[in-house]
Amino acid sequence: MIAAIHSNAGVTVANIDAAGHVTGRSLYLDDLPVMEGTLFAKVLDSTVAHGTIRELDLQGARAVDGVVRIYTAADIPGQNEIGGIIADEPLFADKLVQFQGQPIALVVAETEEIAAEALALIRVTIDPLPVVTDPRDAFAQGLLLCKSRVFQKGDASSAFARCSHVFEGRAETGGQEHLYLETQGAYAYPTEGQGLRIYSSTQGLRHVQETVAHVLGVGMHQVEVDVTRLGGGFGGKEDQAAMWASMAGLAAWTLRRPVKCIPHRMEDMRMTGKRNPYQSDYRIGLDANLKIQAFEATYFQNGGASADLSPAILERTLFHGTNTYDIRHVLLTAHSCKTNLPPNTAFRGFGGPQGMFVIEAAIDHAATVLGIEAAVVQEANLLRDGSEFAYGQVVAGSRARECWEQAFDAFDIEHLRAECAAFNQANRFLKKAVAVMPVCFGISFTNTMMNQARALVHVYWDGSISVSTGAVEMGQGVNTKMLQVAAAVFGVHPSRVKVETTNTTRVANTSPSAASATADLNGKALEIACKEIRDRLDAVARAHANSTGPVVISNEQVTVGGMQTDLTWSALVKQAFFQRVSLSAKGHYATPDINFDKTIEKGHPFAYHVYGTSVTTATVDCIRGTYMLDAVRIVHDFGTTINKAIDLGQIEGGLVQGIGWMTMEEVVYNDAGRLLSNALSTYKIPDIYSVPRIVDVRFLETDGHELAIKGSKAVGEPPLMYGIGSFFAIRNAIRAFNPAASVPYSAPITPEKVLMALHSRKP
Ligand code: MTE
Ligand code: HPA
Ligand code: MOS
Repeated sequence: MIAAIHSNAGVTVANIDAAGHVTGRSLYLDDLPVMEGTLFAKVLDSTVAHGTIRELDLQGARAVDGVVRIYTAADIPGQNEIGGIIADEPLFADKLVQFQGQPIALVVAETEEIAAEALALIRVTIDPLPVVTDPRDAFAQGLLLCKSRVFQKGDASSAFARCSHVFEGRAETGGQEHLYLETQGAYAYPTEGQGLRIYSSTQGLRHVQETVAHVLGVGMHQVEVDVTRLGGGFGGKEDQAAMWASMAGLAAWTLRRPVKCIPHRMEDMRMTGKRNPYQSDYRIGLDANLKIQAFEATYFQNGGASADLSPAILERTLFHGTNTYDIRHVLLTAHSCKTNLPPNTAFRGFGGPQGMFVIEAAIDHAATVLGIEAAVVQEANLLRDGSEFAYGQVVAGSRARECWEQAFDAFDIEHLRAECAAFNQANRFLKKAVAVMPVCFGISFTNTMMNQARALVHVYWDGSISVSTGAVEMGQGVNTKMLQVAAAVFGVHPSRVKVETTNTTRVANTSPSAASATADLNGKALEIACKEIRDRLDAVARAHANSTGPVVISNEQVTVGGMQTDLTWSALVKQAFFQRVSLSAKGHYATPDINFDKTIEKGHPFAYHVYGTSVTTATVDCIRGTYMLDAVRIVHDFGTTINKAIDLGQIEGGLVQGIGWMTMEEVVYNDAGRLLSNALSTYKIPDIYSVPRIVDVRFLETDGHELAIKGSKAVGEPPLMYGIGSFFAIRNAIRAFNPAASVPYSAPITPEKVLMALHSRKP
């Protein structure tokens, strides 16, 4: 309905990708028609996690019929360097290999089968060096990827002395494989002169463009990057898409032929980094009223062999180290540890979930010893307006208490607990329990510079509209939101608007589609561009109506000064064109009023925060160690959502991904640095049976925030952290079976761990 798009009340516009997705017509990278002369590239990766290459024998592989060329570090015309934040990551290992899965060579052949056949004939001899896979070991050896960081507020060390209760312990969280349905990949083809066009499955076009240019030793202007959509990114394609694009780009540029480089699932799994595992120490101090007076944590982030995005992820761990709690004295220390694993990277939440798990573990520890519900401690410490985060931002517009209180009311948590108690009375080997998880997540890239975006809008003279932004559609529905923004400014039917592919020649210097900020940043830029054209059209309409009144375009009808005119949208556009008025505009947006000073680790880095509270009920089978999530009930702060269906999808997807991380997804490397969970047979992700039987999401509708697009708050990452509640619900159910159980704060809490814990005793 046309009327729907004028309202900002969350009236749903169907996701514009839905029909294409369900009919298989949506175009992904590997669906692009193959150009004549296309070659296929396959990467040879190291089977040794640390060592020096003694010999690389390419003879046999070169002799294979149909092999066109084999590339190594020596064949790079520019720099053998693809690091995003720190220049510490070679495209091809050159003498030194630092992880299993690290690229050593690239075989380019007439077919993929020939490339694979040749790959098997390459002989590599590597002299092994000691392998480090554990971040604490790496730290002990001084192996760090970047400077350690400390966030400090008040004086934690002296505050502990005044606390009635002090608890300390350890917490750890595992890695997480992105498992985007579409693997990484790139398709590069040469254009005239020195040019290259690259179709990439990337969230970060600028990084791909810049990296390929750097590897080739040319300017960014020679490299055009185009993205139709991704079959999921989840952070895994924020930085790591650059490697595949560089491979395809290198071959296409030197051979002047189109080259495709798309890894198979198992290649993707072993060669790319995952969510950073963390090991952490905590100390928490409470006063007699259960106010947390002091909190200290030290985080050992497992970064892998190169920095990739780990330094920025480390920073977000610090930002979210106190989750949604107001704590007077805080001392957080974070180390990014260098190990011989594939470089770990962004994953939904970007270090935030890892930090939040630690404080939730600390609170749970305190509650367990004090014999109270963790929720009592959580509630006593929820953020209020005016309190200050450890990084100096003053809390404003906090919805922490509203979400919490509405969750308690709407879901009657006392009743849920009573139900569990009654169930546990009646069942000896099945136990149920509840856990509450409040979340507060900061919206903006933590690197202030990255909070900018641009858009390019053309109104064609038939009244149809072309929209380009820096936003990448990866399933999160951002294109639909962009379409809604444009249609609303122009007052036209959504079918007038085409959201174009994301392309570096139309929109330059993009920040990655990440940090949940894509719709905010690109939507604001788009709104600016559309309004500029609208202003020009309004002037034409006023002249036509001989009036100075305000112009309203609604349902494609033009009203001036409250009077209906004879102008429709398309007549107005045509008239403007005949008057030689420009029907194109660019918009640029930079989030105002944000800053962060790393020298003192203080500032106002976030445009706003998103809040919510989840209530999880779990049932544990105390004979088998298996479990089921009965229900997750959520009150979430959406602001004034512009698309309820899409935002609800984000909550459900994020929640289930968080549950997977906390309960079943177990990334396992052996001591030699070999990925054992290297396929879907050995790496378990949630399926439909793992989805909670009840997922009940309530919309906390508020005025939104002026820095959120149309007041519709960012929604991509925050819901992942509701999944943390599943760990604690399962833990509580174990303790309902065995009150003396020792349940380490070690996620994922797999059925094996549950079974061990059920029958354990506190030391
Ligand atoms: N949803 C889908 N379907 N696919 C994805 O890859 N990525 C998540 C989230 N939701 C993702 C997703 C991540 S990690 C982020 S940062 C945001 O979407 C990015 O998009 P946004 O900024 O538009 O929210
Ligand atoms: N979030 C996600 N991606 C990022 C960030 C961030 O804060 N900073 C740099 N890349
Ligand atoms: Mo999301 S981890 O910021 O791509």
